[in-house]
Amino acid sequence: MTGIKIISTGSCLPRRVVTNDDMAALVETSDQWITQRTGIRRRRFAAPEEDTVSLALGAARAALESGGVPPEKIGAVLVATFTPSTLVPNTACLLQQQLGLPQDVTALDLNSACSGFLYGLRVARGLLCQEPDRYVLVVGSEVLSRVVDFTDRGTCVLFGDGAGAAVVAAAPEAPFVWTAGARGDAQALRCAGITGSGGPLSPVVQMDGREVFRFAVDTVPRAIRRVTEEAGISGSQVDWYLCHQANARIIAHVAKTLAQPEEKFFMNLSEYGNTSAASIPIALDEMNRGGLLRRGQKLVLAGFGGGLTWGAALMEW
Ligand code: ACO
Repeated sequence: MTGIKIISTGSCLPRRVVTNDDMAALVETSDQWITQRTGIRRRRFAAPEEDTVSLALGAARAALESGGVPPEKIGAVLVATFTPSTLVPNTACLLQQQLGLPQDVTALDLNSACSGFLYGLRVARGLLCQEPDRYVLVVGSEVLSRVVDFTDRGTCVLFGDGAGAAVVAAAPEAPFVWTAGARGDAQALRCAGITGSGGPLSPVVQMDGREVFRFAVDTVPRAIRRVTEEAGISGSQVDWYLCHQANARIIAHVAKTLAQPEEKFFMNLSEYGNTSAASIPIALDEMNRGGLLRRGQKLVLAGFGGGLTWGAALMEW
C-alpha cells in the first residue's frame, strides 16, 4: 500500500479581524457566551476584493514556495470548498491558470463541507498511486462570511474565512491509514445551492447546533480509534491530533473519550473560528511554521461536518 507525505504547507487569511464584541454589535450575543460555548474569540472576514480563489491562491503559492516545489511537479490540484466563487470554472482550474501549473493536470473541486480536506487527502492518495512521480496540491478554501445569516446568532458567530494548502507526495514506506463516511442529512446542516423547485435560492448556512455537536462527539472518536487500531498503534503513540476547528468543547470531548491529554490536540479556533474545509490545512501550516512538527512524528487528522460527513487519517509527518 502506497502511503503519502505532506512535504510543505501554506495558508492565507484575510486581514480583517472581527472580534466577538464586533459580532455582539450585530446580533444579541456576548464575548462571554461565544468564548465559553465555543472557544472562539475572533475570526477573519474577507474584504470585498477577496474570494475563495484569491485565498486559495495565496495558500497554494505559500505551500509551493516553502517546499521549493516547481509548478511542473504538480500533477493534480484539488480544492475542497463549499463556497466557490464560480461553479464553472471550478476553483482548481483557476489555480491551474494563476499558478502556471502544467495543462496536463487534474483539476477538481470537491465539496464535503468541513471534511473536505480529509476527503481531498484520500483522493490525492488515489491519484498518487497512479502517478507517483508528481505531487498533488490539496487546498481548503472558504469564504463562509458570504453564506452566513447575520441575523441568526446560532450560526453567524461561529464561522470565518481563510485557506490552507498542502503539497502531498507519494511515500511508499510511510503509513496512511484512512477512514471516512457519509450519512445523508439535510436537516442537521444545510446550505442551499443555485435553484430549487421554487426558483433561484440564496444560500445561507442553517444548522441544528446541538445535533451537529452530538454527531461530532460520537463520530470523531470512533473514526480516530479505527485508524489507530488499523495502524496497530495505541492512542498514546500518536504525537499530534488535529481535529476540524469547530468548537473547543467538541475537541475536549474527543480528547476525554480517547483518554488522551488535551495538549496533544492542536487548537487555533480562538483566532479564526470555524473555517470549514480550510481549518485543518490552516492549522497544519501554523503547526509547521511554529516548529511543532518533526519528521517521523505520528499525526492523526480528523474532520466532520455538513453532509453529514466525517473522516480521519493517520500519517507520518
Ligand atoms: N449568543 C447567545 N446565545 C446564543 C447564541 C449566541 N451566539 N447562540 C445560541 N444561543 C442561545 C440559544 O438560543 C439557546 O437559548 P435558549 O436556551 O433560551 O433556547 C442557548 O443559547 C443554548 O443554545 P444551544 O444551541 O443549546 O447551545 P450549545 O451549547 O449547543 O452551543 C453551538 C451552540 C456552539 C452551535 C454548539 O451546539 C456547537 O458547536 N455545535 C456544533 C457546530 C459544529 O461543529 N459545526 C461543524 C460543522 S460546520 C460545517 O460543516 C459548515
